[in-house]
Amino acid sequence: MLVALTTTTIGIIGLVVIVGGWIVYGLFNVAAGRKEVGSEIELAPNRKPYYDDETLEGPRLERVQLWGVLLLAVTVIVLPLYWMFEPSRQAGAQEGWDNRFASWGSQLFAPTAEGGFNCAGCHGGMQAVGGEAPFTVTDPVTQEVQAVNWKAPALNTVFYRFDDSEVRFILNYGRPFSPMSPWGLVGGGPMNTQQIDNLIAYLHSIQIPRENCAEGEDPLGCSSGNLPATMQAEIQTAAEKAVTDGKADTVGEALFNLDLASGAYSCARCHTLGWSYGQPTVSGQGAFGWNLTGGSVNNHFANQSELTQFVKNGSEYGKLYGRNGQGSGRMPGFGNLLTNEQIDAILEYVRSL
Ligand code: HEC
Ligand code: HEC
Repeated sequence: MLVALTTTTIGIIGLVVIVGGWIVYGLFNVAAGRKEVGSEIELAPNRKPYYDDETLEGPRLERVQLWGVLLLAVTVIVLPLYWMFEPSRQAGAQEGWDNRFASWGSQLFAPTAEGGFNCAGCHGGMQAVGGEAPFTVTDPVTQEVQAVNWKAPALNTVFYRFDDSEVRFILNYGRPFSPMSPWGLVGGGPMNTQQIDNLIAYLHSIQIPRENCAEGEDPLGCSSGNLPATMQAEIQTAAEKAVTDGKADTVGEALFNLDLASGAYSCARCHTLGWSYGQPTVSGQGAFGWNLTGGSVNNHFANQSELTQFVKNGSEYGKLYGRNGQGSGRMPGFGNLLTNEQIDAILEYVRSL
């Protein structure tokens, strides 16, 4: 970044010198031109005698050769320097664009009052810590329409669960049957590809920095790092409290239904119909995510470790999983959000459904 800035400064100074040189040259040329009028006979260059052979093959030749050596030396020094600084210049340029995209994305993300598309209004402010959205649901039997508040998950951990292309899919097509509408033109929304890219850049910029990233990796973007241990501990405490409060029988069940403000860590929001608006039906019986009850999970996964891997990594578009399963990329990965013990506890509950 710094190097990019220095090179920019040097470039600007170079430009100023060159433009200044042109102006000075122009001025001198005009002045010389005036003098010339009517005196071409003496001043015309081709009427003046040139150097004699002595000078031409002596000092004059040496001077030209010296210039040649000097220019060669400059090339030899400047080319490697250019080669040395180029990678950081490119990195700086890339970072510059990322920051610009993120700041344009933040304008799209902003509340309606600030001219944005109000992602912030539903998802819990500019830091997207999780919120609620007013919505209406229609009872398919009685046709009764009911106003509800639908939990909108925190997005400051969205790249812990999904990769860029999965988030792009969600933004383009929305979450069907939920307040999250399609935003991309391909899904019938108002935003072009560039705007969706900008939103993705903005979401990257507000991620909670990860712990345990590999050496030298960016804590905002690394793929191996996990949620800070303090936050994982808060999740554990909330789950244990739900058990002591009698809201769940086991920590696994509590985690499956975890009702933190962020809304981001529970399975029930996708796998239990009605959970998102406070009217959960049969636990795990399927909504946006599949039905996990009646032994179907045991049918779809030959063994325990296959199931654990699936829940840790989430599904990937087109990729096979378990027995006869083919992922759509819509099942998030929980390996970087929850601890191994927490995932084991959840799966014990899931298998009991
Ligand atoms: C009217 C409220 C509302 C608005 C506006 C809104 N969202 Fe959402 N969004 C939701 C809800 C509710 C969900 C969760 C739906 C569900 O239960 O599956 C959601 C889900 C998401 C998800 C998936 C997260 C996950 O873990 O499942 C992403 C990403 C997202 N929204 C991004 C955005 C962005 C970016 C914008 C702005 C362009 C936006 N949302 C605008 C309500 C909203
Ligand atoms: C954002 C919504 C969402 C959340 C949250 C979610 N899932 Fe899923 N899940 C899905 C979808 C969608 C599928 C279907 C597979 C696909 O589309 O790739 C699925 C599939 C599954 C399957 C495979 C079912 C089968 O029989 O093939 C299991 C097991 C599962 N989820 C467990 C969980 C657990 C455990 C959690 C919580 C730790 C969880 N899910 C959280 C959306 C979700």
